[in-house]
Amino acid sequence: MSCENCNCSSQANHENIFMPQEAKIIKTKMSTASEKRFWVKWADGSQAKFQPGQFLEVSLFGYGEIPIGYASSPTFKDNFEIVIRAVGRVSNALHKLQKGDSIFLRGPLGNGFPMKSLKNNDVLVVAGGIGYCPTRSLVNYILDKRDEFGEFTLFYGARSPKDRMFNNDFERFKKMDGVNVLETVDKGDESWKGNVGVITTLFHKTDKINKNTRVIICGPPIMYKFVIAETDKLGIPHSNVYVDLERRMKCGIGKCGHCQINDKYVCMDGPVFKYSELEDREEAF
Ligand SMILES: Cc1cc2nc3c(=O)[nH]c(=O)nc-3n(C[C@H](O)[C@H](O)[C@H](O)COP(=O)(O)OP(=O)(O)OC[C@H]3O[C@@H](n4cnc5c(N)ncnc54)[C@H](O)[C@@H]3O)c2cc1C
Ligand code: FES
Repeated sequence: MSCENCNCSSQANHENIFMPQEAKIIKTKMSTASEKRFWVKWADGSQAKFQPGQFLEVSLFGYGEIPIGYASSPTFKDNFEIVIRAVGRVSNALHKLQKGDSIFLRGPLGNGFPMKSLKNNDVLVVAGGIGYCPTRSLVNYILDKRDEFGEFTLFYGARSPKDRMFNNDFERFKKMDGVNVLETVDKGDESWKGNVGVITTLFHKTDKINKNTRVIICGPPIMYKFVIAETDKLGIPHSNVYVDLERRMKCGIGKCGHCQINDKYVCMDGPVFKYSELEDREEAF
């Protein structure tokens, strides 16, 4: 069942987009010391229905509500995954929840990734740190529908080997045809045999990116301008570069203005923007 008004997946949301819907946690797992994975199912039995890159407002009674991206592919409909980094009041409280507990969700919200523009093209995803979580939904979607996309490259950067999330994903992807996974850490240790350096060093380790590649960037704000300097060198037009932005949000539906960048609402017009739409807005990054 889907909602014609707000694109949400639950029938009850037709009545009130401000009303969180109950979902059940069916499994949890710590991914790193500060990031926890939650597998979630709508309590009313609805299937997971969303676009890669969309997000949910996740609430816990007595604590508040925070935006969190989908971290699984919509090709898997029975349940969906979110990953929460414990940084403050609401995220720390959510970390205490376990299998069988309820959470309350509004969504899916936001525009998601430009699937039409990505289809039949080579795609590069550049994901820094927890920025891999919202892009993981897209990465798994592309890998599930391999025939619909060209060459696929993933750059993933973590602060250190112990901060790497989803190691199993990367090992699995590395065995697939037409899929190039390049990883780096800012600071290595004795266990790490891979690349050490910031994420932009990976551009010099592959010849799979060309001027027609569609690029998706998600990570800490500092990363964007350095990654775009590299895509500029390759001649990739800014209209083919997409940035997934994070802003403090409240309503998530274009009413409160908390997420505004001039005339753009990150919650409604984004969180995914063509870089060409934002390049003269310094406050966006
Ligand atoms: C569209 C979108 C998707 C997101 N997806 C994820 C996700 O998949 N997983 C995840 O762990 N987090 C994600 N975030 C960030 C998450 O919403 C914040 O970490 C959360 O709101 C913090 O709330 P809190 O109450 O725990 O922390 P608070 O007590 O409010 O703040 C703790 C610290 O976090 C900082 N902070 C608060 N909100 C944000 C924000 N929106 N962006 C950056 N820093 C913030 C504060 O400045 C402070 O330093 C996403 C944000 C957006 C806008
Ligand atoms: S969060 Fe309220 S307008 Fe975007």
